[in-house]
Amino acid sequence: MEHTPITAGTGAATEQQNQNMHGYYRLHAKIYDATRWTFLFGRKEIITRMGIDPQAKLTLLEVGCGTGYNLKRLAGAFPNLSLIGVDVSADMLQQAEKNMAAFPNKVQLIEKPYAPHSFNLEQKPDVILISYALTMFNPGWEDAIAKAAEDLPVGGKIAVVDFHYSRSKFFRWWMGKNHVRMEAHLMPVLENTFKPVYKSIRKAYGGVWEYCLFVGEKV
Ligand SMILES: C[S@@+](CC[C@H](N)C(=O)[O-])C[C@H]1O[C@@H](n2cnc3c(N)ncnc32)[C@H](O)[C@@H]1O
Repeated sequence: MEHTPITAGTGAATEQQNQNMHGYYRLHAKIYDATRWTFLFGRKEIITRMGIDPQAKLTLLEVGCGTGYNLKRLAGAFPNLSLIGVDVSADMLQQAEKNMAAFPNKVQLIEKPYAPHSFNLEQKPDVILISYALTMFNPGWEDAIAKAAEDLPVGGKIAVVDFHYSRSKFFRWWMGKNHVRMEAHLMPVLENTFKPVYKSIRKAYGGVWEYCLFVGEKV
């Protein structure tokens, strides 16, 4: 796994975002897998919604792969998939290495922010998965969507699952304290950048918040 210092992503605000993620996940990385299943809904479903042929020899990049929760599931379900995980947090990637131990040489983990000019991929992905990460790229989510559009070939797919919105001002404030922006801001930009293949907005806990699923194609 590459362990290079974080220099990419221009501007003080972006650098601050990177550092915020380091600090936050230094504390959360070890308890992440034990706790997040209670509220990060739709992660299993987005994998089926991508519509990948189980035997296809494709490259999938997960942006903000964290502890490798999705990568591990993908490695098990799609034996011919080459996997790349990018994340800004070294602590999360350490957990990902542990989670992927049963699948040696199956995944390349890169410690970098996913931002324009941050790094170049040796192997361009056919599919990009972004699961509960974009709402934490503040600033940087629009640039990350633009980079995904650049990294994909025509016909390539992007699959996103993330928080969408909450009517509760308090809840949005609380999520903001946890670095999550929940203002229904992702879907319009995703729909403008990619040709929608599947999109859905779902209620969590009877409507305390909503989360969204989006699969799109680069045209
Ligand atoms: C809520 S976790 C999601 C992890 C995983 N995708 C999942 O579904 O469990 C968000 C992840 O995004 C990463 N992240 C935040 N900002 C990033 C950036 N600019 N570039 C790459 N990864 C970033 C964090 O370090 C964290 O691991």
